[in-house]
Amino acid sequence: MDQLLAQIAKYKSEIESETVTSKEELESFRIKYLGTKGLVKTIMGEMKTVAADKKKEAGQLLNEFKIFTEGFFDNLKNGFGEESGNGAPSIDTSLPGDPLPLGGRHPISIVQNKIISIFNRLGFSVAEGPEIEDDWHNFTALNLPENHPARDMQDTFYISQNPDWLLRTHTSSVQIREMKKGQLPLRIICPGRVYRNETISARAHCFFNQVEGLYIAENVSFADLKQTLYFFVKQMFGEKVKIRFRPSYFPFTEPSAEMDISCLICGGTGCNVCKKTGWVEILGCGMVHPKVLENCGIDSNKYTGFAFGMGIERITMLSYQVKDLRLFSENDLRFLKQFTQAV
Ligand code: PHE
Repeated sequence: MDQLLAQIAKYKSEIESETVTSKEELESFRIKYLGTKGLVKTIMGEMKTVAADKKKEAGQLLNEFKIFTEGFFDNLKNGFGEESGNGAPSIDTSLPGDPLPLGGRHPISIVQNKIISIFNRLGFSVAEGPEIEDDWHNFTALNLPENHPARDMQDTFYISQNPDWLLRTHTSSVQIREMKKGQLPLRIICPGRVYRNETISARAHCFFNQVEGLYIAENVSFADLKQTLYFFVKQMFGEKVKIRFRPSYFPFTEPSAEMDISCLICGGTGCNVCKKTGWVEILGCGMVHPKVLENCGIDSNKYTGFAFGMGIERITMLSYQVKDLRLFSENDLRFLKQFTQAV
């Protein structure tokens, strides 16, 4: 019995010192210790030599040894990765992966991207600027000096820490930043979020998105502005849409206009969306005021330019016939899932 105990202890330490680095070595281990002629079987055979009164105890010891050896083998097998045979964990790369839910673009992003790509084709590139602006870039440089009554046209959020800071009310401020860089000719569009202190309703929000455009070169005329916007509207809404310009006023353009398109819902016959007029306003535009050019260090005798600005929400509402602007910022998945264009 003591002899058996000593033997088991010896074998245990022998097994514990075993390592395997290949499939073949793992198999050799199995044959050596757990095979039909392996050590475990052989030592089990020793039971015959044990005295009858010790058989029970010896049986238990041998069984424990068998379980120990099997457990050790399993550990070697798992740690080593039976499948790959090179020490790497076993992964079946042919199995299909877990599906990741595919998101969709926000309707405002879809329309913004479409607007950008149309103007890209006309040679406009995208320029961006900060949403927190200073008074000069948002107002003064745009021919809206302090106390100018037109400042009231855009109800402004000021930042309490610094009276000179505000949330930009339009992306015209980005145009000022680009003009100041002094690289002419300039042909840019400025998409981005803007803020106005308005009561939230189905038609207005305290923040929304704009795309403004600016083209400055020698001999740019109102005809160029008209043709550019004409091209944009046809690309955006289709060949059948009609446009019209109405005289308007902006401090930073002269002359100024607002542009309407024939109502997409009723085709011009009159409905609730166009308030029975057959037309909907989509943007403001005009020739850049010489004072604005001079404020940015551009020679207004040599250069002229046009500018325009539109609200992306308005264009999106017309494109998809959305009646309430608030839906765009509520993040209701039932609404957003209807715009299926994948990311
Ligand atoms: N900045 C004007 C607005 O936000 C839009 C505009 C841009 C009008 C350029 C004319 C020319 O209301």
